[in-house]
Amino acid sequence: MKNQLENLKNQIILDINNANNLENLEVVYNNHFSKKGSLSQMMGNLRNLSPEERPAFGKLVNDTKEVVLNHFNLKKEELETAHLNQKLESEKINIHLPGDNLKSGSIHPLNLIIEDISNYFVKNGYEVVTGPEIELDLYNFEMMNLPVGHPAREMQDSFYFDPNVLLRTHTSPVQARTMLAKEGKPLKIICPGKTYRRDEDDQTHSHQFMQIEGLVVGEGISFANLKHTLQDMLNYLFKGEAEMRLRPSYFPFTEPSIEVDVLFTKKDGTKQYIEILGAGMVHPNVLKMGGYDPERFTGFAFGIGVERLAMLRYQIEDIRNFYTNDIRFLKQFTEEF
Ligand code: PHE
Repeated sequence: MKNQLENLKNQIILDINNANNLENLEVVYNNHFSKKGSLSQMMGNLRNLSPEERPAFGKLVNDTKEVVLNHFNLKKEELETAHLNQKLESEKINIHLPGDNLKSGSIHPLNLIIEDISNYFVKNGYEVVTGPEIELDLYNFEMMNLPVGHPAREMQDSFYFDPNVLLRTHTSPVQARTMLAKEGKPLKIICPGKTYRRDEDDQTHSHQFMQIEGLVVGEGISFANLKHTLQDMLNYLFKGEAEMRLRPSYFPFTEPSIEVDVLFTKKDGTKQYIEILGAGMVHPNVLKMGGYDPERFTGFAFGIGVERLAMLRYQIEDIRNFYTNDIRFLKQFTEEF
């Protein structure tokens, strides 16, 4: 009978182990632990034993029952936890609203050029400064050696608010502002920004466009420094030995003045020089008005046409494409859309 009890114990443990859900476990309970279950029946076998043997066997059955019941309870707990977790998982509610699918933009081709040129100059120790687009006549013209009535003012037809205030016609007023701010100390700056001139808009003209001004003031700054700077920047921009041509020119704020062309290969393979910037040695009057002694300090300045460069680099034929914000046009210049 001891063997029988041992076998029953193993069977019950096996049944408990095999139950993989609460329903199966309940069947195990009914089969073994209920009033008519196998364990009660085992107790019933006591009848067949002699009165002396009964207490010892009875105790053995009870001990066995305790062991398997313990095992049963552990299994029950385990299955209940699993059941609860499953329920929680299946009843999970997503409380989030679906998000708006915003398209991320891309960098405008004009800003790509500005970033590229700024990187070059920052790497070479220049500071990037900005100035206002609504400017005083004082900075835009007078301090740039274009006093009231100067005939060269007519080269830059302007939008005036009143006789003293206008939309800046170039980024050069930032030269004057920076010189005053630096109070006679050497400086190296670039200034990218928007500029405005009265113009009939067409394929190559716009009443609003962008420039990058450059100004270096110090002791012993020479024309050779200017030439080297421009050549080096163009090599960087055009990724190689750029063919640069300097032509004498005239700006009231530089002396001597030059215009700078780059030899550019067109789509059909022919080559052509295209003007991309104006430059020169800072005029002594400009230095003086900016608070620098022209006997001690010299400097060079340049003004780069950003649209020009962008049109060359990206083979864009109509300047108006830059301003109409047609996404089909803009997305050509970046992978990020
Ligand atoms: N300000 C000039 C223009 O807009 C360009 C320039 C800048 C020329 C600095 C010389 C020096 O045409």
